[in-house]
Amino acid sequence: MNKPKRDAFASARLRAGRCLVLPVVLLSLVFLGAAVRIQPPPRPEKKGDRASAVSVPSTPDEIERGRYIVENVAMCPQCHTPRLSNGQLDPNRTLDGAPEFFQPPSPDPDWPLQAPRIGGNPPASDQDLVKLLTTGIWTDGRPLRLPMMPFRMNESDAKAVVAYLKSVRQNP
Ligand code: HEC
Repeated sequence: MNKPKRDAFASARLRAGRCLVLPVVLLSLVFLGAAVRIQPPPRPEKKGDRASAVSVPSTPDEIERGRYIVENVAMCPQCHTPRLSNGQLDPNRTLDGAPEFFQPPSPDPDWPLQAPRIGGNPPASDQDLVKLLTTGIWTDGRPLRLPMMPFRMNESDAKAVVAYLKSVRQNP
């Protein structure tokens, strides 16, 4: 007497179970989709950058473009090239490092005494130099001290500048 009743109950539960299958599957798909989307998209170029140094151009055109930016736009030699006694930039010691020629408005013990040599064999990797010129951040994760400016060049200009810096030959 009880059996058919129980069967009816069981099949009702089964139906309810089947009804639940679809929403559960759909929900898991949504969650799965979200989980997949939450993960950052793969960026092969970035990985390449980290594995190897950024590739700085070495064509004469790009080096010349870098020279133009350095000398006529960013004015790096004004601080980084030493001067002759007549005050002119020493043409034989381009970007060879120079004493700071101007002082802060009020005395500052943290003011750099020297703009270091940046021509020839550069003081950091291509990648670090490009980072400095595009973000203003140096190898210690901080900006350099003023009056060195936190440049925000685009990557192509920064690479051309680094190409030029590396091409500078210092006289012994
Ligand atoms: C107004 C002066 C000035 C100008 C212009 C300038 N710099 Fe500098 N630069 C400095 C000074 C001063 C320092 C030292 C900063 C410090 O010690 O924190 C410096 C530091 C640097 C350093 C770190 C070197 C090292 O070995 O620590 C690099 C690289 C650099 N400059 C590149 C450049 C480039 C490239 C340009 C042009 C795009 C440029 N600077 C323009 C004054 C200048």
